[in-house]
Amino acid sequence: MSEKITLSVIKADVGGYVGHCDVHPALLERAEEKLAEAKKTGLLVDYCRGKVGDDIALIMTHKKGIDSPDIHGFAWETFKSATEVAKKYGQYGAGQDLLSDAFSGNVRGMGPGVAEMEFVERTSEPIIVFLADKTEPGAWNLPLFKMFADPFNTIGLIIDAKMHDGFVFEVHDLIEHKRILFSCPEDVYDMLVFIGAPSRYVIKNVYRKNDNEIAAATSTQRLFLLAGRYIGKDDPVMIVRSQSGLPAVGEVVEPFAFPHTVAGWMRGSHHGPMMPVSFEDDHPTRFDGPPRVVSLGFQLTQGQLVGPRDMFDDPSYDNARKLALDVADYLRRHGPFEPHRLPLEEMEYTTMPEVMAKLATRFEASE
Ligand code: F6R
Ligand code: MG
Ligand code: MG
Repeated sequence: MSEKITLSVIKADVGGYVGHCDVHPALLERAEEKLAEAKKTGLLVDYCRGKVGDDIALIMTHKKGIDSPDIHGFAWETFKSATEVAKKYGQYGAGQDLLSDAFSGNVRGMGPGVAEMEFVERTSEPIIVFLADKTEPGAWNLPLFKMFADPFNTIGLIIDAKMHDGFVFEVHDLIEHKRILFSCPEDVYDMLVFIGAPSRYVIKNVYRKNDNEIAAATSTQRLFLLAGRYIGKDDPVMIVRSQSGLPAVGEVVEPFAFPHTVAGWMRGSHHGPMMPVSFEDDHPTRFDGPPRVVSLGFQLTQGQLVGPRDMFDDPSYDNARKLALDVADYLRRHGPFEPHRLPLEEMEYTTMPEVMAKLATRFEASE
């Protein structure tokens, strides 16, 4: 049997330029130096440095399997090293995803986000890596559902014999730390009860049903329940394999022609449209947003990441971007009102406990 390759995408925000918009080139350079060294020493087979907004993504192939302490340790060290550069350049929230002394009014996430999969390379292996900023892991639920369970998106589910049996979705409950497998299409209605609530139930992996082949993996990070609120919107990443009995590349990117509403944006406390953008436009500025996603296409061969192709650098996504901007205008006009602002229990920032305490004596019984 052929040897397996592992694709790991590990991302972190170790300092923003300016505020939480972008990453300074000096940090990207440091990440690239570290990646190049790791390839030289043989730890990595190949790599690509990705970026979206204020997040750096290390896209790595290797032979060490998922959850490898060597690979995760390398990523941690790389982010620490980039943090040193961030400090030197006075970057905002330097080391915010890593260090306890990070300066940021924002609550810290749980650390770097990770999406990984291990598989035997097919004769040709087209892979799409998605990176999102200013949103949470559940943001992938709707597009993954469309790719792997909705025949209005993926005609292959109907007319490709290799996909016709459907896919198995592994869904995690981020609050109670439980997981469940849904076999689709037969479990679609049951599954939607859960994944339609993406702040809590998140699709972690998707497998092809007839041979259990891994098809997609996302980063899910635990949300902390602290002081009556969740912390750690995590700017998630996702890996999707495609073609030859998996959704075609066009079916994988098609869901993003609809800029669906996600949680995140300013202070991790607002709903906004997920805007698909080219690498050139990957820096959220307006009201720290709107949330956005970039898409890196690779042909993987013998572990080499041939790419990336900038998949959303295509005029066929202009309407999605225009719609996203119209939705952004519409939602912004709600100001601090729901549904633009998230419900109280889902906001990353809240002054509710302090305000409640201050007003405690002014509340009186009503009918
Ligand atoms: C959202 C995000 C930003 C910050 C905002 C305030 O995920 O990162 O919108 O929440 O810029 O940041 P602080 O509290 O660091 O001033
Ligand atoms: Mg940031
Ligand atoms: Mg970010």
